[in-house]
Amino acid sequence: MNKKIIAAIPNGYVDAKRSAPIDSLLRTLPLAVPEIFFDESGEIIPINFVKTDQAMTIKSAEVVATKFPNLQTEALEGEKAQTANITGKKVGVIFSGGPASGGNNVLGGLFKVLKGNTLYGLTNGPDGLIKGNAFKVTADNMELLLNTGGFDFLGTGRTKIDKPEKFESVKNTVKKLGLDGIVVVGGDDSNTNAAELAEYLTGEYKKGNLNKGCTVIGVPKTIDGDLQINDKGNSLLPISFGFYTAARVMAKLVGNLLTDRASQKKYWFFVKLMGRSASHLTLEVALQTRPHITLISEEIGKKKMSMDDVVSYMSNIIAGRMAKEKNYGVAIIPEGVIEFIPEVKKLISELNKLSGKHVEIKNILLGKKLINKKEETDWNEFGKINALSADMKILTTVLKEAVPELKDYRDEDIEFFLEQATMTIAEKKNFICTSPEISSNSADLFRTFPDDIVDAMLLDRDDHGNLKVSQIPTEKLLMKLVLKKIKDMQAQPEKYDLANMLGFSEKEMKKFIDSKFDPQDKFVGYETRCGAPARFDANYSFILGLTAGSLVLNSHTGYMASVTDLLSGGKPLGIPLSSLIHTEVRKGKETSVIEKALVDLDSPAFNIFAQNRETWADGNSSRSPGSIQHEGQVAYKIPYTVGLNQGLLTWAQIDNGAEPDFNMGRLTRIKFD
Ligand code: FBP
Repeated sequence: MNKKIIAAIPNGYVDAKRSAPIDSLLRTLPLAVPEIFFDESGEIIPINFVKTDQAMTIKSAEVVATKFPNLQTEALEGEKAQTANITGKKVGVIFSGGPASGGNNVLGGLFKVLKGNTLYGLTNGPDGLIKGNAFKVTADNMELLLNTGGFDFLGTGRTKIDKPEKFESVKNTVKKLGLDGIVVVGGDDSNTNAAELAEYLTGEYKKGNLNKGCTVIGVPKTIDGDLQINDKGNSLLPISFGFYTAARVMAKLVGNLLTDRASQKKYWFFVKLMGRSASHLTLEVALQTRPHITLISEEIGKKKMSMDDVVSYMSNIIAGRMAKEKNYGVAIIPEGVIEFIPEVKKLISELNKLSGKHVEIKNILLGKKLINKKEETDWNEFGKINALSADMKILTTVLKEAVPELKDYRDEDIEFFLEQATMTIAEKKNFICTSPEISSNSADLFRTFPDDIVDAMLLDRDDHGNLKVSQIPTEKLLMKLVLKKIKDMQAQPEKYDLANMLGFSEKEMKKFIDSKFDPQDKFVGYETRCGAPARFDANYSFILGLTAGSLVLNSHTGYMASVTDLLSGGKPLGIPLSSLIHTEVRKGKETSVIEKALVDLDSPAFNIFAQNRETWADGNSSRSPGSIQHEGQVAYKIPYTVGLNQGLLTWAQIDNGAEPDFNMGRLTRIKFD
């Protein structure tokens, strides 16, 4: 590695040194820049913004009026500026939430457009903003990082800025660094936080508590693809960056598995794909690879399919293939599917209410410094109130006397909270199933769940109240249930009336009964988030960076950067965050958040999938799209789901391998100085 590149690594933040041969190639690849960013001499300069003609739909006028009175609700569109005459501003940037490929190009876009100004990288997500940990991003850093993957340069985190003292700390960081703007690169929850910060900092400036304004701009990031904004038939945000790269990594692996199965003709693979609640990634992978079975959570929710319905659906396809001597295949399962099965959804919401109580107990004890953050049940800490006792009942009584805020909580809940670290799964299950928050149906269902599922469902929700679906081994659960069902179908075929239901001939029935169903499970998620961005994400995220930087320089606040017109030159937009916020229940409480975009069951992408899935179940249709290409004739493709839903490409084009290339502007070799 050359000296310049080593020098570009700040304070050891970059763990991956980017010294692989591919990194040198990636750094030289050109990026698309919409024409309005170029001045006469071909230099990239910031753009201006004007209000769009069309009024944007506001999700909740009440939320805007009560929580975001200082923020604008009209969308903005980019306009060419004559000169880059804004200098001397200081801008901080954070990554927030899970990593997604393209983050370094957002930084690249920001750095480029902020020429003459200072870009501070705040480390480890919102914590960097709260603690004021920052360093100046340099041209050498950007030369090293452009077009590469990972969030390791700044780090990331999931801390929610939710308490007055955290907002106050952010204000102190703004003062300490003299920030004129903050760019929050994050998903739906992080962009909600960006809106809250924008409101707070504007309020503080108006009250005279800041001597200059500090704007806050969001950048849509998440592999989940659940940040997509369509308003009155117009696409305002086609997708979040990182989605396509993650989908292509998944599609490569699923495609390889499909070919492996077709080669060896044994085993079924149950593959859970990351994506939290929405099934966008699974749908994209299905369209890319055409596997034998695909579950789409939103459809399961809409059809109110029970766990048994889902298991029967999968088992019937598998049984049908077994009868035809095709005892192998690949099933893809969105990671959040469990939340959409009505009886599980009910159980989860009841568990959330119960765990919400335990979080309240924890916070009360933390607030009183009776426990520490790491070991909630540290007996030495409890010794502080002289209640060191192995008897939970006595301890609970003493605690309730010492801490009046605990008086309304059931003794059993306090005891559970104190003891849970040492309880067995069976004990936890028993406590939960007899809690008043849990209905008898939910308790019956919970009792049937294996230990690994129970354990994962009881994990703390994240700071934003999300269930950690990536930790729930749904693929294992479904695999076990399907295995049981297939065995039962083989043992009692008459009970299922297979000849009638699946149209089995006598010979096929024999084949089915004599075959052994042999499944394996996989989870694909973390390995998809930090690779070098596909060209789509590399280009898209660089323009998002240019747009976010321009919004900050023009003193707009409470906006999310976006770029549309993916095949016709790229059009930068600013979307007002406050108009995207609605109210939903999180951690058992009504909360104002940006609504996640789920798979639309009326969309072209879903309909094409639904029309083709039966054929795919038969086999012979699978595709293996292979590794992401960074150069050459297949490098410049767009996500199928986005293209189909926006009318940018057709299924016939996909079928014929004649998909159009994206065109988001003039291809330019980016240099930093
Ligand atoms: P973001 O929405 O923050 O980008 O996170 C996406 C995601 O990758 C989900 O798909 C997944 O459920 C979750 O992060 C996993 O979270 P963690 O990295 O904290 O385990």
